[in-house]
Amino acid sequence: MAETHLSDEESKLGFSTVKFQADSALLRELGERLVGQPHIALAELIKNAYDADATMCTIVLDRDEIVVTDNGHGMTETEFLTHWMTIGTRNKQVRGVSRDFERNVTGSKGVGRLSAQFLAHKLEIITVPKEKPTQQLRARVDWDEAIQAGKLTEAEALYKLEPRGLSFPGGKPHGTRVIMRGLKQVWGAEEIKDLGRQLWMIQSPIARYGVLATEESDPNDFQVKLSSTQTQLVDTFDRQMRAALENYDAVITGELKRDGDVARVHVKIAFRAGKTYSESFEVPPLVDAARWHIRVFKLQGRQFEGVKVGDARDYLEKFGGIQVYDAGFRLPYYGVQQDWLGVEFDHSHRRNKSALLPDRLHVRRALNDLPTQGRLFGIVQIDTGREGRSAAEQEKDSGEFLKIQVTRDRLVSNNAYTTLRNAVRWSLDYYATRERLREEQNLDLRRPEEASTDKVSRISDLVTDVRRAYPDDDSIVELEREFGGLAQTVAQEREADDAARSLLGPLASAGMAALALEHESRKEMRIARGLLRKLRVVATDSGDGRVAEIADQVGAWVDRLESTRKLFAPLLDPDDRDHVEALTLGHVVRQVADNVAPLVVGVDISFEIPADIFLPAATFAEWNSLFQNVFINAANATLDRDVRRIRCVGGRTGRAAWVRVDDNGAGVDPEKSLHLFEPFKRELTISEERRALGLGGMGLGLTIVRMIAEQRRAKVSFIEPAAGWSTSFQMSWSSNQ
Ligand SMILES: Nc1ncnc2c1ncn2[C@@H]1O[C@H](COP(=O)(O)OP(=O)(O)OP(=O)(O)O)[C@@H](O)[C@H]1O
Ligand SMILES: [Mg+2]
Repeated sequence: MAETHLSDEESKLGFSTVKFQADSALLRELGERLVGQPHIALAELIKNAYDADATMCTIVLDRDEIVVTDNGHGMTETEFLTHWMTIGTRNKQVRGVSRDFERNVTGSKGVGRLSAQFLAHKLEIITVPKEKPTQQLRARVDWDEAIQAGKLTEAEALYKLEPRGLSFPGGKPHGTRVIMRGLKQVWGAEEIKDLGRQLWMIQSPIARYGVLATEESDPNDFQVKLSSTQTQLVDTFDRQMRAALENYDAVITGELKRDGDVARVHVKIAFRAGKTYSESFEVPPLVDAARWHIRVFKLQGRQFEGVKVGDARDYLEKFGGIQVYDAGFRLPYYGVQQDWLGVEFDHSHRRNKSALLPDRLHVRRALNDLPTQGRLFGIVQIDTGREGRSAAEQEKDSGEFLKIQVTRDRLVSNNAYTTLRNAVRWSLDYYATRERLREEQNLDLRRPEEASTDKVSRISDLVTDVRRAYPDDDSIVELEREFGGLAQTVAQEREADDAARSLLGPLASAGMAALALEHESRKEMRIARGLLRKLRVVATDSGDGRVAEIADQVGAWVDRLESTRKLFAPLLDPDDRDHVEALTLGHVVRQVADNVAPLVVGVDISFEIPADIFLPAATFAEWNSLFQNVFINAANATLDRDVRRIRCVGGRTGRAAWVRVDDNGAGVDPEKSLHLFEPFKRELTISEERRALGLGGMGLGLTIVRMIAEQRRAKVSFIEPAAGWSTSFQMSWSSNQ
């Protein structure tokens, strides 16, 4: 039989055949190119164990030896020869999934095991096939000799068959052990950490994951255990393998306990950031005891211990959700696939109010923060045996206790089950309310980590670099100029913000002092009126007209003094102080004018304001401070005028609404007026002695005006006054009517 595939024509033309020769340096090349890093090389062997349907794989790391043992299906002699001894075997690629569990296999190229030669000089493999667990195959490879052999076809491995002398992890009679002797690297914490990062994704989340009440095996059950005389390496490995589950945001723990006729649940929410909340509630006494521990994950933006967020998300999609363990045996029905707590349902129906929580715990839109299964990892522990024994006679008869179905994969769906389910769900809803509250608080407090000035100057530097690289590019030159401008604006804005913030302290204490004063003056006022009454009596008794006159003057003075207290009115009424709403402009300015009347005696204030203009939503107290400042400024400016006038005009221009406060005082040049809104700026051209009468005077008024306006998205400025007026202050805002 001809070994060649030469056609007659080719033979005639004098062709002869030759085979490709693989140099065994290719082995080394493959090994080193493939791996380059020892942790990836070692991980290949553990991935092979996973592909072989192992549920457990142990790695024993010693100073000069690494032994990897799995309890997978092992290899028959034929498989050893055609798969293990064939470089580039494609058996896994052909099947796509593993033999028994139909796991998605990690291997495909048929070269993974060759990376072992990168780890050690010598390799021994012992494998026992599931089909014939009485026999084991032992093979040895000396990588140095194999590579020296020259041609790959001549590289050798020795092997023999012998009676099985090994047992495998979990007491299984089949599996594979790979022993590497003469290590080429020293394994330290870094390498072990890296190994963990390669493997955590294929490991199931907890040791008892595979212990099922049904006594079946779970295809995803896979545990990797490292042991070593260097115990700190074991710790490092374990920590890294669990890292994805350590990156939680909050832990929900719950405990249900029955005591006689009552059953109570105690729930605790501990946020990683520090806060803890707890609540207790009563449930029907149909369950004797249950405990749960649920971790909630945010899975956003950041890496944790080298675990990518995307990988963590995939992992929880597979292993997440809330599982139920019955006396330590997992009920496989409950898990990420099964929405037994109805969280997915409520999400897809956009429910935002909990059906279970009492009213006092409700928080608006709380269920927006209800985590989906893919953000949860939790375990509920019960014991159906004990539930059966401890059930009351009546419940025993009616079957109302936690019971496992005959299929042993889930609980019987009765009222006891509903009690358990609701209690767990209650704790999730409670978590959602606390998270919602936290979120709301955070929104107010969130501050940029880096000062905007720093950021802008960094970008400016980059732009400058780019400009140097492309000095002739006009748009880059332009960009640099623009950035220069932006840097300046940002710096100014920051200065102004700082100045405004530095005002808050003094203002707050001034405000508190004013309130204390108001309180005191109320008492004094009562005393004054008492004395006045006595004075009137004396005036009548004595019949002296001068005393009556003095009594009237004092009376008028007390009334005036009394009315100054109105200044404080908006601060004293909680409704005015705290209630944010869209108030009508006309009412507000009239009310404020009335409140400040004692301070602006002798000024004629007129109003031209349509009734249907509404201010932006804010408290009355805010508008009171704003307009009070504007009115007092206007009144001060008119101190030198014979007829002192202020006019308030309201109106609309397009979609903007506005209010103007005009006065006939000393006048403000709108061009130069911007800086008047900065703290401590005053510019009053009125006479000395008159100025002594001026109110305010710290130069803070307009700063406060602008602060309040900006807070409510309104703009304030001085504009060109209408004929007959000297100054025109304007506030405008967008109105949607
Ligand atoms: N622990 C094991 N148990 C059973 N069979 C194994 C084991 N390790 C390797 N094998 C067999 O040896 C073959 C070669 O393994 P190797 O890791 O080199 O390639 P692969 O896993 O098929 O693909 P890849 O190169 O992508 O890892 C495997 O396809 C498998 O048939
Ligand atoms: Mg492989």
